[in-house]
Parts: sequence; structure tokens; C-alpha cells
Amino acid sequence: MMAVAVLTIDGPSGAGKGTVSRLAAKRLGWHYLDSGSIYRSLALAVSKQGIDLADEAAIVRAAEAMRLEFECGEELTVRLNGQDVTAEIPLESTGNRASTVAAIPEVRRVLLQKQRDFKQSPGLVADGRDMGTVVFPEAPFKVFLTASASERAMRRYKQLKEKGIDANLARITNEIEERDRRDRERATAPLAMASDALFLDSSDMTIDSVVEEILNLVRKG
Ligand code: C5P
Repeated sequence: MMAVAVLTIDGPSGAGKGTVSRLAAKRLGWHYLDSGSIYRSLALAVSKQGIDLADEAAIVRAAEAMRLEFECGEELTVRLNGQDVTAEIPLESTGNRASTVAAIPEVRRVLLQKQRDFKQSPGLVADGRDMGTVVFPEAPFKVFLTASASERAMRRYKQLKEKGIDANLARITNEIEERDRRDRERATAPLAMASDALFLDSSDMTIDSVVEEILNLVRKG
């Protein structure tokens, strides 16, 4: 059986991983895994079910019971337990809660196989925090994509505004810094660069040049 190629793109929030990963997947004709949306969906399930963020056992049960469907059209449509939650996925409040539920080791264990199931022929572009280190350590192509904190906050701000979501730059900057700290400092699968990853700082790069660098990595084999 031919091995399925995997390209992992990890990095902090707002580094441009989503946009770049989608474009790279399109150019390569590969599948796309937005692993953050899985943790975001769990955060939504937890709040819809009125579960306390401190009740780890109940959060783990919600992760086990969660039914998720992704539909890749122009935009990614997400259905959670039969309900379309696409509009709630990008909210900052969802991202912040996601980083709290994502720090629970048992939650990560439960969600591991759901993520690995995305590895299908001819290939997969996987975007997240631990794609190259934990979920797909065997991936032949790994990228760690980052940008300065102020640039990341500005990008997230513009992204939310474009979606018509009310946003405040100072608050986003604080929230991004706080979320990054939680993601880097957690004990299980913290945000870290895989030793065999290509480091890219996109602060002064265009989206197209980031995508080209990444495609060059894949072309070189
Ligand atoms: O990438 P995104 O901002 O959608 O991720 C939301 C949160 O989900 C992150 O802040 C992180 O805590 C968590 N996450 C994770 N592991 C991943 C992807 C996301 O812990 N692979």
C-alpha cells in the first residue's frame, strides 16, 4: 500500500496557518484537517450542555460523545451533534474556551484517533499545535509557522471584522498572548516546534510566498 503523505503546519494562533494550509491543500489536491476546529467544537458542546469548565470528567464524556461532521466547500461547514455551528467556531470566546478544554490530557487522548482518521490518500495537510509532534510524528513534511504577536493580533482582528464580528484590538492582543501562554505551558502536547520542522516567520511575508516556500518543501520530497 502506498504511504499517505502528510504535511503538518503547527504554530501559535493567528500565524496564518488556516489560510496557508487551505491553499496548500488545494494546490496539492490533498485533504485538510483543521484540528483547532475539533477543540473549538468541543468547547461549544461543553457550553451548550452547560458543563462547568472545571468539570474535567464531564468534558471528557462530552468529547467521547461528540458527533462531528465537516463539509469542505468554499468555507468549512461544521455540524456538531447535528447542529450547524459554523458561525460560532471562529469567535474568540470559542478559541479561549477551546484552549482550556485542550489542556486536559484525557481529552487529547480521546480526540487523537478522530484526527488521525483524516489521513487519507493521496495526502493530508494538518493544521494545529501538535500535528508534527504528537498526532502525525511520522509526517515527512513539517512546518512551524509563526509571526510576531502584534502582527498576529492585527490579522485576527481583521479576520473577525471581515466576518462582521465585533472586535477590539487591545483585547485580542491580550487574549492571544494569554492563549499562547496556555498552549505553550500545558503539560500534554504543548505548542512546540518539531525538531525536523521548517521554521517560517510570516511577519513580513505575503501569504503567497509562505505557500510557495511550503510547496517547495514538498516538491523537494
Ligand atoms: O487553531 P485554533 O485557534 O482554532 O485552536 C483553538 C485552540 O485549540 C488552541 O488555542 C489550542 O489550545 C487548541 N488546539 C490544540 N491542539 C491543536 C489545535 C488546537 O490544543 N492541534
